[in-house]
Amino acid sequence: MRVLSGIQPSGEALHLGNFFGALRQFVALQEEHEMLLFIADYHSMNSVRDGAARRANTLAVALDYLACGLDPTRAMLFRQSDMPEVTELAWLLSTVTPMGLLERGHAYKDKVAQGQSADHGLFAYPVLQAADILLYHSDLVPVGQDQKQHIEMARDIAQRFNHTYGEDLLVVPEPYIPEEVAVVSGTDGRKMSKSYGNTIPMFGKPKEVKKSVMGIVTDSTPVENPKEPVGHLFELWSLFADEAEREEMFARARAGGLGYGEVKKDLLARLNARFEPMRERRAELEQKPDDVEDVLADGAQRAREIARPVLDACREAAGLGGGRR
Ligand code: ADP
Ligand code: TRP
Repeated sequence: MRVLSGIQPSGEALHLGNFFGALRQFVALQEEHEMLLFIADYHSMNSVRDGAARRANTLAVALDYLACGLDPTRAMLFRQSDMPEVTELAWLLSTVTPMGLLERGHAYKDKVAQGQSADHGLFAYPVLQAADILLYHSDLVPVGQDQKQHIEMARDIAQRFNHTYGEDLLVVPEPYIPEEVAVVSGTDGRKMSKSYGNTIPMFGKPKEVKKSVMGIVTDSTPVENPKEPVGHLFELWSLFADEAEREEMFARARAGGLGYGEVKKDLLARLNARFEPMRERRAELEQKPDDVEDVLADGAQRAREIARPVLDACREAAGLGGGRR
């Protein structure tokens, strides 16, 4: 199966929710599938207006993925804008995309509902996203729940294009939304999200990480009292423990004598042990930006080998370009 996903280079530091909810899944998929992962820098133009920031953010995403174990000899990791072909396919697709379909788009509707004026880029975002997916004949697109609508639009657009110019031109992709991916709670018990300021950073400085872990909000049950091992502190801790360790810790909580402070300290130790190798790897790669560029260039070259024939077939079927063969 060919699996593809894209990540926006937002410039935000990765947090535990991103790791357990997204990165870890993507990295695991490389084991069994042909995996394409691109950094959606064209898409980021709708929100980030600073070129230097975009370039830096794009590199940061590449570092994050490589540090988390994405293997560039297996998966193709590339920058969206190294594949300008995608903008050509986006144009072809836009000619068969009804206005009504785009008018139902969440991102666009939300912006208009907030009374802001939207740019054409935001309105047409789902068409570019469809091109991202369809250009590579992707079978499966792993995404979060919030992206489901965009994948459905891509399916719709693919079907319309095929219907117009030839049934086998584009592969109709399936979304892949892993059910078992639980929402990771933040330090205040709400969903961990950069917009709530309740995150635990993955690649943060030791002091920063410590501060957010020790700042996890709990009730004021005294140490000696028995506690039900539920709630966001135990949930976060459980992300770093196996079944047997969980049972042991939970039994201690129920018996009384286990304080929240101890659970936090143990969580911090486990978290550091798990992420330290990744932090080191990231710091190493950061010193070698040219090597990262090589990885992206190689990823783009391999992705282009897939993309070129797909785009050429669409051009040919649509009567674009010269007819001489
Ligand atoms: P944020 O909520 O911090 O803005 P994003 O929306 O940028 O995060 O999410 C990037 C990816 O990380 C998405 O695939 C999303 O599903 C995943 N993700 C973000 N927060 C969480 C969370 N708390 N639990 C699980 N997955 C999450
Ligand atoms: N829109 C996605 C997001 O904001 C990023 C993205 C762009 C994407 N193109 C894609 C995801 C193609 C999957 C497939 O998260």
